[in-house]
Amino acid sequence: MQINLERPRKFMADISPPGDKSIAHRALLLNSLGTGKSRISYFPRGQDTLATLNTLVSLGVNIKEENRSENGFFSTLNLEATGISGLHDPETVLDAKNSGTLFRLLLGLLAGSKVKATMTGDESLRTRPMGRIIEPLKLMGANIFGKDEGSFPPVTVIGANLHGISYQMQIASAQLKSAILIAGLSSEGETVIEEPTPTRNHTENMLINMGASLIRKKDEIHLKPGELHNIDINIPADISSAAPWLVAGLIHRNAKVTLRNVGVNPTRTGILDVLSDMGGDIKIDYTTTVDSEPVADITVQSSELKGIEISGDIIPRLIDELPLIAVAATQAKGNTVIKDAAELRVKESDRIENTVEALRILGARVEAERDGMVISGNGSLQGGKVHSSYDHRMAMAFAVCSLVSDKDVFIENADVTDVSYPGFWDDFLGAFRD
Ligand code: S3P
Repeated sequence: MQINLERPRKFMADISPPGDKSIAHRALLLNSLGTGKSRISYFPRGQDTLATLNTLVSLGVNIKEENRSENGFFSTLNLEATGISGLHDPETVLDAKNSGTLFRLLLGLLAGSKVKATMTGDESLRTRPMGRIIEPLKLMGANIFGKDEGSFPPVTVIGANLHGISYQMQIASAQLKSAILIAGLSSEGETVIEEPTPTRNHTENMLINMGASLIRKKDEIHLKPGELHNIDINIPADISSAAPWLVAGLIHRNAKVTLRNVGVNPTRTGILDVLSDMGGDIKIDYTTTVDSEPVADITVQSSELKGIEISGDIIPRLIDELPLIAVAATQAKGNTVIKDAAELRVKESDRIENTVEALRILGARVEAERDGMVISGNGSLQGGKVHSSYDHRMAMAFAVCSLVSDKDVFIENADVTDVSYPGFWDDFLGAFRD
């Protein structure tokens, strides 16, 4: 599908973006390891999270969907599980599709099970590095086989008896941390993980709520093996799906956007800090904390932005939002420098290369660096035709460019937004006002 966007005179919206993808994957995976029933509310029916649901059903977890919304974008799940020993061999290859989170966390889960399974993914996922997960899992005693020692999907896992390890992570990755923690649940002895920089902590929050013996001491996480008891989970809206709206509401000249019920876990809110530092008018109304996750309504409106430097410990707190921050930076006064973000090159696409290429086509002045970008804020863009690179976050970032482009923006392969945000185009066009 190709989308054609013409700059609107006004951009106004009041919406609740889809449920948090990171929390949804974990709600399903961790409850599948527990015993008992759980109810997962506001489950986002994007392609990534549906892949997790389908994968767990093929491993024998009993999951029933109800209250599917009229547009089919969210539902409630009733899950019943009997612990890791209740999982059985799947009849076919497990397909994680586009989801790195599913693939990596599931590797950790299956490593300590009694299951034998082959896991794969789509063309993008099959080029993404898995060695970072397989190395610690093998140190724990996992049996994982595949091309180049399992560095890329597909891989086959034959569940084994694992033992805990002390592991110093070299990459700040919540997926890596979570895979080791999940494997640690079924290991003998304690697992200790040291993070180079704090990353999103949804796995830890959920494990503690499910009764796991987990404590954090400075940069270290200590986990003792044990059973989990299932819990009900209410999924807040995803700050990563709110992000296009945040940038849109700030850079359009006549805009106001309110986002409801957004998860504002401090390990995820780097984008709010950066956009505020850039001069963005952002109001955060803290409403409540649900299942240990803080949730808020956020309102943004048209603002004059200035360029800043973004580097160091904040990067894991906004890693998925960097293409959008680059879009905001094209409208800022002065230069914006993004450093320490080499991980962007191994996401659903090479997000440094693809952001720079598309922003240049649209008329921005941007340079790619090995681990980031330098963006010269030079005001309005000229428009043009760009490709999503089959990456949902890129398609949404380019949509936002249309709000500040003199001519139309055409986005090829725009329906890739269904990976995390089905209904994005309807919501987005709904905010266009004449
Ligand atoms: C995720 C962690 C991040 C993020 C991804 C989701 C998660 O990846 O980019 O979209 O749910 O744990 P890394 O932890 O590998 O950086």
